[in-house]
Amino acid sequence: MIKLDTSKALVSAETVTAFREKVAEAQKSLEAGTCAGNDFLGWLHLPSETTPDFLDDIQLTADTLRQNCDTVVVAGIGGSYLGARAVIEALSNSFAWLTNKGKNPDILFAGNNIGEDYLYELTEYLKGKSFGVINISKSGTTTETALAFRLLKKQCEEQRGKETARKVIVAITDARKGAARTTADKEGYRSFVIPDNVGGRFSVLTPVGLLPIAVAGFDIKALIKGAQDMEKQTANDVPLEENICAKYAATRNALYQSGKKIEIMVNFQPKLHYMNEWWKQLYGESEGKGHKGIFPAAVDFSTDLHSMGQWIQDGERTIFETVISIETPEHCLLFPSDEENLDGLNFLSGKRVDEVNKMAELGTQLAHVDGGVPNLRLIVPRLDEYNLGQVIYFFEKACAISGLLLEVNPFNQPGVEAYKKNMFALLGKPGYEKETEAMKKRLG
Ligand code: PA5
Repeated sequence: MIKLDTSKALVSAETVTAFREKVAEAQKSLEAGTCAGNDFLGWLHLPSETTPDFLDDIQLTADTLRQNCDTVVVAGIGGSYLGARAVIEALSNSFAWLTNKGKNPDILFAGNNIGEDYLYELTEYLKGKSFGVINISKSGTTTETALAFRLLKKQCEEQRGKETARKVIVAITDARKGAARTTADKEGYRSFVIPDNVGGRFSVLTPVGLLPIAVAGFDIKALIKGAQDMEKQTANDVPLEENICAKYAATRNALYQSGKKIEIMVNFQPKLHYMNEWWKQLYGESEGKGHKGIFPAAVDFSTDLHSMGQWIQDGERTIFETVISIETPEHCLLFPSDEENLDGLNFLSGKRVDEVNKMAELGTQLAHVDGGVPNLRLIVPRLDEYNLGQVIYFFEKACAISGLLLEVNPFNQPGVEAYKKNMFALLGKPGYEKETEAMKKRLG
């Protein structure tokens, strides 16, 4: 199982255990469905409620896409995108994109930005490809995703014909409402439902994450098994000292109360870049409310030790770090010896690259702790589906407890509406006439 090491968190055990009662209250209210945002607790027992038949059904659709597509574009944003990307990138060969020998379809992502160049280049790239689309939107009305899907649907139908397009376009959306549902029903696409009681950023273990991950060739049963085991390990009757979700939530709140306002998620494996991004969204949207909340930031080490490393070591002391530490890499590579030793690196000859990486990790931890940066470590035995399932459930449950300790509703995101309202007013969207007028006056 994954482990949490808080021995370098620079807070006393008493400060953390002082949260015991509040943590227990938060856990109880989650279980009883009495907490803030209790309409959105479907993720809590999602792993144990997921049946093998349901996973087989997802796999069947994934196989249809795998058999009929060389490329699959996943259209979605925020919670409808980041979880799938995090898992796929963590498990994929770093150069799969360049070296793919046709075993798995290439997975591309769209609908997560409105960059005209991005969309143009994507549509150009897809010319001549046997591509399919997974259109993911819980609301079914998100502008970024809807824009990309309109382009992709048209291109897919033109390139592959309406009949084939119907087979290789899949929708994952609400059971009843939203434009994505209307289109899926009208066109007869295979579709999956995002449960009403699971919010976007807690939805990676629903078809939102599972279908793209299965299409990419990864084992969704092992992923769910990892999450199920973590669900058991972090049940309410497990005491705080052994319950890593409770401990992480209590420790980060203790740090926040002592003035550590920024948490930096750190990895030492480039494959985890999108895991950081997923975590940032999960914690940022869940906790940043009512002018409160730890600011979630992220770095990729050792790359960013050559940029953000200076700030972390020496800047304002308002930060703490959480490191995702992978114990064993999937491959073994030894440093070769060199007769001339011009680079002076012969002292590393015969050592694994990972040994150097691990010393970089340890050296960084010691330096940052010496510099007054509390350090938490999530220790993950290896990067596989089973362990990632644990990591996902761990962060989700800890996030819910943590948000409740902070006394915010971890399951809503009222703050993201403001930009949408302004954008629609500026674009003159029907129904926004009053806002458009107000916007014209405001901008002169
Ligand atoms: O966590 C959330 O709820 C959000 O990040 C959503 O996932 C994101 O805004 C996308 O929404 P939708 O799935 O409705 O297109």
